[in-house]
Amino acid sequence: MGTNHHYAQNHQQNANCFTKKLIAWALYSLIPLALIHFYLFPISPAQTPPITETTIEHSKQTNPQCDYFNGTWVKSTINPLYNGKSCGTIKKGQNCMVHGRPDSGYLHWRWKPENCQIPPFDPTLFLELINNRHVAFIGDSMARNQLESLLCLLSTKSEPELVYRDSEENKFRRWVFKEYNVTVSVVWSPFLVKGLEKSAASGLNHNKLYLDSADEKWASDLNKFDVMVFSIGHWFLHPAIYYERERVLGCHHCPEFNHTEIGFFGIFRKAINTTLKKVKDELNMSDKLVVVTTFSPAHFEGEWDSAGACPKKVPYKQGEKEMEYMDTEMRKVEIEEVMTAAKEVEAIKGRLRIEALDVTRLALMRPDGHPGPYMNPNPFSEGKKERVQNDCVHWCLPGPIDSWNEILLEIVKRWRY
Ligand SMILES: *[C@@H]1O[C@H](CO)[C@@H](O)[C@H](O)[C@H]1NC(C)=O
Ligand SMILES: *[C@@H]1O[C@H](CO)[C@@H](O)[C@H](O)[C@H]1NC(C)=O
Ligand SMILES: *[C@@H]1O[C@H](CO)[C@@H](O)[C@H](O)[C@H]1NC(C)=O
Ligand SMILES: *[C@@H]1O[C@H](CO)[C@@H](O)[C@H](O)[C@H]1NC(C)=O
Ligand SMILES: *[C@@H]1O[C@H](CO)[C@@H](O)[C@H](O)[C@H]1NC(C)=O
Repeated sequence: MGTNHHYAQNHQQNANCFTKKLIAWALYSLIPLALIHFYLFPISPAQTPPITETTIEHSKQTNPQCDYFNGTWVKSTINPLYNGKSCGTIKKGQNCMVHGRPDSGYLHWRWKPENCQIPPFDPTLFLELINNRHVAFIGDSMARNQLESLLCLLSTKSEPELVYRDSEENKFRRWVFKEYNVTVSVVWSPFLVKGLEKSAASGLNHNKLYLDSADEKWASDLNKFDVMVFSIGHWFLHPAIYYERERVLGCHHCPEFNHTEIGFFGIFRKAINTTLKKVKDELNMSDKLVVVTTFSPAHFEGEWDSAGACPKKVPYKQGEKEMEYMDTEMRKVEIEEVMTAAKEVEAIKGRLRIEALDVTRLALMRPDGHPGPYMNPNPFSEGKKERVQNDCVHWCLPGPIDSWNEILLEIVKRWRY
């Protein structure tokens, strides 16, 4: 109880400053939610290459005991597989190279877990392992960031064809790699549970979350997906009212309402729980893979719109930066819920595989990997400025988030063999 109270207070104090920080990267909240059905086009079947001997050899190198959490970023001479010009699917705000970011040292680091190696990303292997399958990234803009990294990595071997997009907003998109009959989707669902986002269009200045219902935007298509990568977190910091069984459970940062402040850690747990329960209830006997990408910390130093809001040019060294309380809690919730769900599937001898993609520590140690002012093109073309918008949350592409997908490939390998 004491600790809970402490969080609530802390978050009250932090909420204003968080709200400001969120503005830059919560632009989606200003855009009306398009209520659309996003499977309009049938996928044409294609001939797919068989899985080869080399594929199988390669996969044997997977170390099932690898703990990705503990490790360090080490210097690397390997160049990224793609760059800001070679990959056509990078969201403008993350295309740091093309936006004039002058330094490139941040591109030359590899994550080295203490007790194992992560091989460089092999696009052909990834496509072979998931041929005839559908991968969906479901969540907020971090899910989209990871998806765009994967598309860039894969497009170095096979050109994706955009077969669906909802509108200019790019909240729901789908590509097909015809050569391999691999489909990749992105589904906007920042809470994973049913919710209303605050926006000008909805007239809401706070979110509404219905914690006992999975969001139909992904749940109604569950059977179409073979690999699901869930990634959420930052939207839970916004002011919100929470509902469960059609009753108000409480709220977060809501002084104008007569509801109890209950913070958001427990709420986040309920959202992950409802999500995994939905997946488990429907797919426990299916040969499918569910991955939860853990919380990725932000690196704001000071005001989000002041010069040098995330000025670091190199990763933190091991032991240089401790994880902050919120980051630790968010990750813990995700790891615990994933472990519980995985055990439950195991207990009923189900085939569904549920894993965490534990990137919180990797991400924490990369204050140098964000767009910062290069979220906009050439921000200093008219000289230095005091006030400049900064994105210290998302990741430059190419950038550290490419490593998330190297680990995702390791998880896919373990699943397929
Ligand atoms: C990481 O390593 C430290 C020390 O080597 C150890 O105390 C800690 O338990 C490890 N963390 C995890 C998650 O294994
Ligand atoms: C192509 O992939 C989809 C899944 O995205 C699958 O349902 C379909 O059967 C595959 N087609 C062939 C010819 O295997
Ligand atoms: C707020 O809720 C409390 C307890 O339910 C009630 O006593 C009080 O009258 C309410 N205040 C307002 C302004 O509605
Ligand atoms: C397993 O999945 C089936 C549907 O395939 C469902 O009827 C059943 O309730 C599920 N069991 C559990 C324990 O989730
Ligand atoms: C969700 O919460 C319930 C109730 O606390 C628990 O029994 C269950 O194991 C949790 N996880 C899943 C995936 O249902």
